[in-house]
Amino acid sequence: MRKHKLGDTVVQAKDLKKHFNLSGGIIAALTGQPARVAKALDGIDISIRSGEVVGLVGESGCGKSTLGMTLVRMHEPSAGDIQFKGESITEIKGNELKSFRSKAQIIFQDPYSSLNPRLTIGEIVEEPLKIHRKGDPVSRREKVREALTHVRLPVEDYEHRYPADLSGGQRQRVAIARALVLDPEFIVADEPVSMLDVSVQAGVLQILDELSQDLGLAVLYISHDIATVGYICDKIAVMYLGRVVEMGAVQDVMRRPKHPYTQALMQAIPNTDPLVNRERVVLEGDVPSPIDTPRGCRFASRCMHVDPLCEAQEPDLYLAADDCAVRCHLFDLLAHRRPNSEGEQLAV
Ligand SMILES: Nc1ncnc2c1ncn2[C@@H]1O[C@H](COP(=O)(O)OP(=O)(O)OP(=O)(O)O)[C@@H](O)[C@H]1O
Ligand code: SF4
Ligand SMILES: [Mg+2]
Repeated sequence: MRKHKLGDTVVQAKDLKKHFNLSGGIIAALTGQPARVAKALDGIDISIRSGEVVGLVGESGCGKSTLGMTLVRMHEPSAGDIQFKGESITEIKGNELKSFRSKAQIIFQDPYSSLNPRLTIGEIVEEPLKIHRKGDPVSRREKVREALTHVRLPVEDYEHRYPADLSGGQRQRVAIARALVLDPEFIVADEPVSMLDVSVQAGVLQILDELSQDLGLAVLYISHDIATVGYICDKIAVMYLGRVVEMGAVQDVMRRPKHPYTQALMQAIPNTDPLVNRERVVLEGDVPSPIDTPRGCRFASRCMHVDPLCEAQEPDLYLAADDCAVRCHLFDLLAHRRPNSEGEQLAV
């Protein structure tokens, strides 16, 4: 478990929505076809503090990347609010948006396509400084040296090399250095190790872990692999069909998952901890479409505990005794009823 002091809230989303309009253009409009909208994010509350790594997990298509890209304003939010250090950045434009983007960086999964093959490593890491018109050649080289040092690539050995000379793990380190060179305060790492060889994954994750602690970065770490989330995250948010269904401290969610969906996800991890005695939960069936979300609980079609209330009414997010927030009627009916209407802080 990570043990260190967390700082103030850096990023906070409130009831954040991102709906993609999938209507078929002019022909659909002329033939009167109804609008088709994919509700990729449908009311997300989340917050990340300085020095904190929040893991975001869930099956493919549940909205993880959309959340990461919306938080750094690569997608326009459809509704709700995003705050960065207490100021709303939901609608900022022009120079304000450019300045925010230097503070909020995103690292993608594919280190092969994300680096320009014609530029040297030194040029790649320096490029954001030039785009943001920061510094002169001497100060920029110093920033490049600092950033490469953070990712353990000595500038003398790497600045004149090209991406093709590097391994996947080294390229992903360069992508991290390029994100660091602008002194960001928030980093989204979207599946940063899933394309890397297992033998180099731990090294890249360790760098992200150190950066959050040493530089006080707020990090949203998106992953399919809950086991890696357990290594580097302070908290976990579990997403299902555009909603967070459970969130809390990493040890609580991993050892005592409460939502039936989280329980099923945890079952997929090989159990190496003799203290954890997990009951077998089987997850069957397909995720419903984000275009046609169910009226009640979104997980109802796959849940072994489903009852008529679940199909009629979507559950609120309830706070359990250990401060995990769970979106499930079982927690309304059975345990510790503390609904969010009491004004409690439910975001992680
Ligand atoms: N640009 C887009 N236009 C239309 N629909 C989109 C767009 N981007 C994402 N979606 C839809 O939004 C939903 C969430 O997609 P997203 O990529 O955020 O999921 P994800 O959890 O990151 O999945 P994965 O684990 O496969 O990366 C999906 O139904 C997807 O088809
Ligand atoms: S609200 Fe009902 S269907 Fe949804 S997860 Fe809880 S028990 Fe299952
Ligand atoms: Mg994704």
